Amino acid sequence: MARPNSTRLNPRAEIFMPNSSLSSHALLEGYAEQCQQRVDNCLRQVVTGADGEPQHGSLQKAMAYSLFSGGKRVRPMLVYAACEALGGNLSQADPAACAVELIHAYSLVHDDLPAMDDDDLRRGKPTCHIAFDEAAAILAGDALQALAFEVLARRDLLPEADLPSDIRLQQITALADASGRHGMVGGQALDLAAVATPLTLSELENMHQCKTGALIRASIRLGALASGCSDQDKLQQLDDYARAIGLAFQIQDDIIDVSSDTETLGKQQGADESRQKPTYVSLLGLKGAREKARELHGRALNALSGFDASAAPLRSLADFIVSRNH
Ligand code: IPE
Ligand code: IPE
Ligand code: MG
Ligand code: MG
Ligand code: MG
Repeated sequence: MARPNSTRLNPRAEIFMPNSSLSSHALLEGYAEQCQQRVDNCLRQVVTGADGEPQHGSLQKAMAYSLFSGGKRVRPMLVYAACEALGGNLSQADPAACAVELIHAYSLVHDDLPAMDDDDLRRGKPTCHIAFDEAAAILAGDALQALAFEVLARRDLLPEADLPSDIRLQQITALADASGRHGMVGGQALDLAAVATPLTLSELENMHQCKTGALIRASIRLGALASGCSDQDKLQQLDDYARAIGLAFQIQDDIIDVSSDTETLGKQQGADESRQKPTYVSLLGLKGAREKARELHGRALNALSGFDASAAPLRSLADFIVSRNH
């Protein structure tokens, strides 16, 4: 099934631009294309690797299938946008942009497995375990995860990024924290335990912050680290922004699971309800979930009020995150 749009970030109908500007949308389209091309080139370089072809061609194929199948690349964009907002240059941010996308790709491959959400459609294509098999999907996810840390640790994979070792170490630590038991994996465990279970709003918020918010927050943090900026106020403001859009991202994912359609989503519409997943829509209704997303969008923009035009991509990304329909 073809994806609905030529660029990967182009929300069609039902567009709600809270910042309401066409210019925000236009700016993001240009920015998105630039970042997508940049991170795709780097990811190809990293996956092929300084060591040449791996011994297992089918593992390589399953990894490439999961990485290059039309993801929106929101997390790499956040890395680049945070780095630029703090005056850094893009090549410094390349390892972090690749690392967060590698973790994200791995998380989706495992999320779709029969033991987890048991989904057969992602980005309009068969999920990894359907296109290959379950063992291949587990191993591809594992290898993508390891590669994320490798790209941060090894200078030779992306030699143009000239980052000091202490910055790389801080990035590795932040990414490990966001990915593991206190972050994405911990959130996924909460998600599975919550099937058919009523959660309180604060339990749901915690689950969403862990399973999705943590990696989005880490994307901003890694981009900020890549910039070399040490202004604690600015770093705190970016972290406030990241926490707000991280939660908003998963709330919008819950919303579009109900309000979008399978072709636009590229994944099965209505999957949350059919699997009895607690979501912001199941707890607050569609209207309540949308209000919460708008409130978080406002919080994110407020956090950026001390930034000048260099934070324009971050503002547009906040708009996109609560207006997207796929
Ligand atoms: C989907 O993430 C999974 C969630 C964390 C909600 P994205 O919507 O960023 O997925 P792709 O990479 O663009 O397909
Ligand atoms: C996924 O959440 C969060 C991850 C850490 C992968 P969902 O299960 O809602 O994501 P989709 O809807 O399958 O993309
Ligand atoms: Mg899931
Ligand atoms: Mg899922
Ligand atoms: Mg979902």
